[in-house]
Amino acid sequence: MNVLVIGDVVAKPGRVAVLERIQDLREQHQVALAIMNAENLAGGFSVTPALCEQLFGTGIDVMTSGNHIFDKKEAIEYISKQPRLLRPANYPPNTPGNGVWTGVVDGIDVAVVNLMGRVFMPPSDDPFRVADSTLESLPNKTKVRIVDMHAEATSEKVAMGWYLDGRVSAVVGTHTHVQTADERILPQGAAYLSDIGMTGSYAGVIGMDKKDVIARFTSVTARRAEHSTGDVHICAVVIDVDEETGKARAITRLNLPHQT
Ligand code: FE2
Repeated sequence: MNVLVIGDVVAKPGRVAVLERIQDLREQHQVALAIMNAENLAGGFSVTPALCEQLFGTGIDVMTSGNHIFDKKEAIEYISKQPRLLRPANYPPNTPGNGVWTGVVDGIDVAVVNLMGRVFMPPSDDPFRVADSTLESLPNKTKVRIVDMHAEATSEKVAMGWYLDGRVSAVVGTHTHVQTADERILPQGAAYLSDIGMTGSYAGVIGMDKKDVIARFTSVTARRAEHSTGDVHICAVVIDVDEETGKARAITRLNLPHQT
């Protein structure tokens, strides 16, 4: 089966690109399961229920997230009611929402797991041990297992790839908004990429207005940045997983300019 994972979708430019292209991408790559990282969906920070529902209704099956997921209050209530929207599994116990989604796609049992790194990131529990317990909780029949490792440091992501190789179908990274070119299949069958990259406007600084961001780096009074516009790209991977074994056969990295 082919699984599409779209990297951090940032604000309106990213959202519009996904809405306009998701059906084509699904057809073109014969995608059975479409996942996207949604933590920057609403203006660059968190989500709103309406935006998520629009994307779920247009061809996205599951959303992962990360450190920005609870930046908007409405996300807290929504995530408790929407099991297809994940937050990091290694957030403290009793955090609203879930870090794993399990379901059946075209008759195949699948699991999506969301983890967050700890290097240069807000505090969270150990993602390695939480990955252990999360994977142990999955039924044996669930062979197709996709992990979004939302983290800053490539070393932590590479380590997670090796740590989970043989237990999952893919470990793909998000959060930096810059696509890496290190995709490969690890020896025991896990597809790996350190960072999928951003889906949004490349005319700014990782999705935000370049003037605002430069001001934040050069003064102490600058305000929060607005998202940038123009030069929109969709960054994603397509992972071909053998549904009998859960091992990946191929990982293909996409970086597609999107006409606006
Ligand atoms: Fe993030």
